[in-house]
Amino acid sequence: MTERLGIVSRATVLVVDDDEQIRRLIALLLRPMGHVVVEAGSVEEAFEKLQGGPPDLVLVDMQLPGKSGYELLADVRGDPRTRLVPVVMITGAATPERKLKAIQEGVTDFIAKPFSPEELAARVRALLELKFVTDALEDAERVIISLARTIDARDRYTYGHSARVSHYAGLLGERIGLQGNGLETVRRGGLFHDFGKIAVRDAVLLKPAKLTAEEYAEIKRHPSEGKSLLETMKTLSHAMGVVYHHHERLDGSGYPAGLAGEAIPPTVRVTTIADVFDALTTARVYRSALSREDALGIMAEEVRKGWWDGRLLEEFRGVLSTLPEDDERILRLSNGPPSGRL
Ligand SMILES: [Fe+2]
Ligand SMILES: [Fe+2]
Repeated sequence: MTERLGIVSRATVLVVDDDEQIRRLIALLLRPMGHVVVEAGSVEEAFEKLQGGPPDLVLVDMQLPGKSGYELLADVRGDPRTRLVPVVMITGAATPERKLKAIQEGVTDFIAKPFSPEELAARVRALLELKFVTDALEDAERVIISLARTIDARDRYTYGHSARVSHYAGLLGERIGLQGNGLETVRRGGLFHDFGKIAVRDAVLLKPAKLTAEEYAEIKRHPSEGKSLLETMKTLSHAMGVVYHHHERLDGSGYPAGLAGEAIPPTVRVTTIADVFDALTTARVYRSALSREDALGIMAEEVRKGWWDGRLLEEFRGVLSTLPEDDERILRLSNGPPSGRL
């Protein structure tokens, strides 16, 4: 889809209706607006045509012979490439129950038959503008995620660290029953937790010797730096707690806020477990990688000191027992420059 002077032009609109006259009418209306109209007489034909690439908008008749419009809707919503594409159901005499079902399945809008050409044109214009905005947001999100990867790429010793922390935190989160936003928070938080290291000088971040007190203070600023760099981004707002607090300890001896006990949210604790484990099991500029068992042993000792959540560490052992040491995804995340500081 292209955008010119704020007006969306040349979008691909998929029209699914068994009534050829309706399809033609819609095509006659939308083509002069500059759109490409792909017609399908059934859901089966629509699935075939979707293989050619995702449309920008789907108009589908609610009642079709064979597979229903609901099935098409479920398929569109279930595919990551099309999950945000607006789907409009064209309805005859739809009962409130059927409309409710469509809403639950994620329909964007309804157009009742018979519709006026002006109404259809106005709806299509509005929905394509919405699609343009979501496309722009998705692009921005992709840029943000590549930005997060630059942190890993900067330090050959921590290559893949953020991606692995995100992966481990997601697995641990799932195991303890986090869902929806909670799960998203630990995954996103994992990916961005060390973002503030962008503000730490190479001479400090990559120093192969013991840090001076001043240098250590610079490293310790990374959670606050991360927060101030990312907090204006709405899509990351829920992960901000993880970015800012991932170095807190349950006994209050961590930084930057010195939070203790229940004041540290579960999403932060989950990410911290993943972070500490990954730091211990990968080679660092100041020491070599530890085995899983050695790392878990050190972390158990730190639970006794009052730093980490012991229940979560036990759950994390459970996660690892289902994850082979040569887990393909972990290896893939680590395959970059040969594998800083926590
Ligand atoms: Fe950190
Ligand atoms: Fe980290």
